[in-house]
Amino acid sequence: MKKVRVNYEKMYYGFPVVLISYYDKEGIANVTTLSSTYTLKDMVMLGFSSKGYAVSQMKEVSDFVINIADSKLMEEIEFCGKNTGADCKKFDRVNLTPVPSEIINAPSIAECPVSIECTLTDVIESPHYKGITNILATIKGRLVSETHLDENANIIIEKFDNISYFNDGVNRGFK
Ligand SMILES: Cc1cc2nc3c(=O)[nH]c(=O)nc-3n(C[C@H](O)[C@H](O)[C@H](O)COP(=O)(O)O)c2cc1C
Repeated sequence: MKKVRVNYEKMYYGFPVVLISYYDKEGIANVTTLSSTYTLKDMVMLGFSSKGYAVSQMKEVSDFVINIADSKLMEEIEFCGKNTGADCKKFDRVNLTPVPSEIINAPSIAECPVSIECTLTDVIESPHYKGITNILATIKGRLVSETHLDENANIIIEKFDNISYFNDGVNRGFK
């Protein structure tokens, strides 16, 4: 393969789009769009721009839910990724339904096939990466739509319709 050296400000090479749902400090349900996540065992890591409303609230309330979005939710993904919860209660503006969790203080989203209930453990704000807040969290529970599970309650991979996010700072899009 002949490669060309490029000089992008960033390169998101296809990350699954998720919707993070939480109750803010006033107890109001809100949601934001995120693509910077990874998980290993019961640990999950999320990357935020430090100035976002969601991350400011999560640092205070600790509990939140990672909801895996699918291709039916493009409009909601774009709305929640363009507007800030500092100005609007996003659940009132889009076709997403918050459902209280049985085990943590955060709502899941009914329209998403997978919801992962989390509690924040660490906030990482390194002087090397100003403006970025990384959140480490423990996974407390996992909810999967029964349509995505086989008779042993294991995932049916073909049922998943996740969206991958690409962005090189100029071209952005989904696959
Ligand atoms: C597809 C997509 C992926 C995004 N991924 C991230 C991300 O990983 N981290 C981040 O801080 N913002 C990300 N954003 C931008 C935030 O969703 C956006 O700034 C949002 O308005 C923040 O809302 P809040 O202030 O309510 O937290 C993404 C937006 C879109 C549309």
